[in-house]
Amino acid sequence: MKDAFGAPQSLLVLGGTSEIALATARRLIALRTRTVRLAGRPSPALDAAAADLRARGADVRTVGFDALDAASHEAVLGAVFAEDDIDMVLLAFGIAGDQGRDEEEPLAAVRVAQTNYTGAVSAGLVCAGALQAQGHGSLVVLSSVAGERARRADFIYGSSKAGLDAFTQGLGDALHGTGVHVMVVRPGVVRSATAQATATGTASGTVPAAPPTAPRGGAALLAPERIVAARSASARFASAPLEASPLTTTPEAVAEAIVTGLRRRSETVWVPGSLRAVMSALRHVPRPLFRRLPI
Ligand SMILES: NC(=O)c1ccc[n+]([C@@H]2O[C@H](COP(=O)([O-])OP(=O)(O)OC[C@H]3O[C@@H](n4cnc5c(N)ncnc54)[C@H](OP(=O)(O)O)[C@@H]3O)[C@@H](O)[C@H]2O)c1
Repeated sequence: MKDAFGAPQSLLVLGGTSEIALATARRLIALRTRTVRLAGRPSPALDAAAADLRARGADVRTVGFDALDAASHEAVLGAVFAEDDIDMVLLAFGIAGDQGRDEEEPLAAVRVAQTNYTGAVSAGLVCAGALQAQGHGSLVVLSSVAGERARRADFIYGSSKAGLDAFTQGLGDALHGTGVHVMVVRPGVVRSATAQATATGTASGTVPAAPPTAPRGGAALLAPERIVAARSASARFASAPLEASPLTTTPEAVAEAIVTGLRRRSETVWVPGSLRAVMSALRHVPRPLFRRLPI
C-alpha cells in the first residue's frame, strides 16, 4: 500500500536494467519501498541491478520478461501479481533503434515499434488489469518528448512513443475512478552523470563520443532528444549530439519528478518541467517551418 505521500511499498519494474527505472527504484527505496521485482531479459546487468538494490535494503527478485514476447506477458506478469500486491508498476523498457538503418531495414523498424508500442500495450493491459483487480496502485509509463511531434531525425522511435503515449492517456481515462492511477512521463534528453561529464570533458577515463548516426537526408537536430553519444545507456535514445541544453535532464531528476508525480497523482509529467511550454509552442509550428527548424 502507498503511504500518505504516495510512496509505494512494492514496485514492479518492466525493463529492469533501465537507468531511469533504477534511479527511480533507488529513490523509492530511500523513501519507503521494500519489495522490488525487476522484470527484464536475463543478463548479468539485470543481476547486478538486483544486487545493487538489495544492498540498499530491499527484497529484490528478477523476473524473466521480454517485451517482444507478448504471448507470455499474461503468465509472466500475472505470476508476479499472484505473489503479492504491487503498488507501482514502472513501464521502462524501450529501444531507440537506429533511424538510418531502420529506414533501410523495415524489419528493424518493426522491432522498435513492437518493443516500444505493442510490447507496452500488451504488458500495460496485463498490469492495468491486475492493478484494477487489486483496487489500487499506479502504472507509470516512460514515454518521451520525441512522441509529441515527429521529427525527421527519429520519427520511427518518435512514432512508437506517440502510440505509447496515446495508449497510456486512454488507459488512464479508462481506469479513472477505479482507484488505479496512470501517469505518463515525458522526459527530454536524459543523460547520466557519466554522459554529462563526457560531454563537458570533465570525466576522467571517459569514452570518446561516438559519431551520431545520420539519418538519410536528415538535418542535424538540436533538441529535445539530442544528446552526446557517450556510451551510456541513456545515450541509446539519442538521435544526434547535444551540447549542454536546459532541456536535458538526468535519470535522478526523472526519478524525482516521478516521486513528485506519485504524490500529486499527476496524469502527465514533463522532465524537465519547462518542456511542457516548449512543446506546446512547437506543436503548433506549421510543418514547412518545423522541417527547417534547427531542432
Ligand atoms: N534516455 C533518454 O534520453 C530517454 C528520453 C526520453 C524517454 N526515454 C524512455 O525512457 C525509458 C527508459 O530509458 P533509459 O534511458 O532508462 O533506457 P535504458 O537504460 O537504455 O534501458 C532500456 C531498458 O529497456 C529494456 N528492453 C529493451 N528491449 C527489451 C525487450 N525486448 N524486453 C524487455 N526489456 C527490454 C532494456 O533491457 P536489456 O538490458 O535487456 O537491454 C533496458 O532495461 C525508455 O522507454 C526510453 O524510451 C529515454
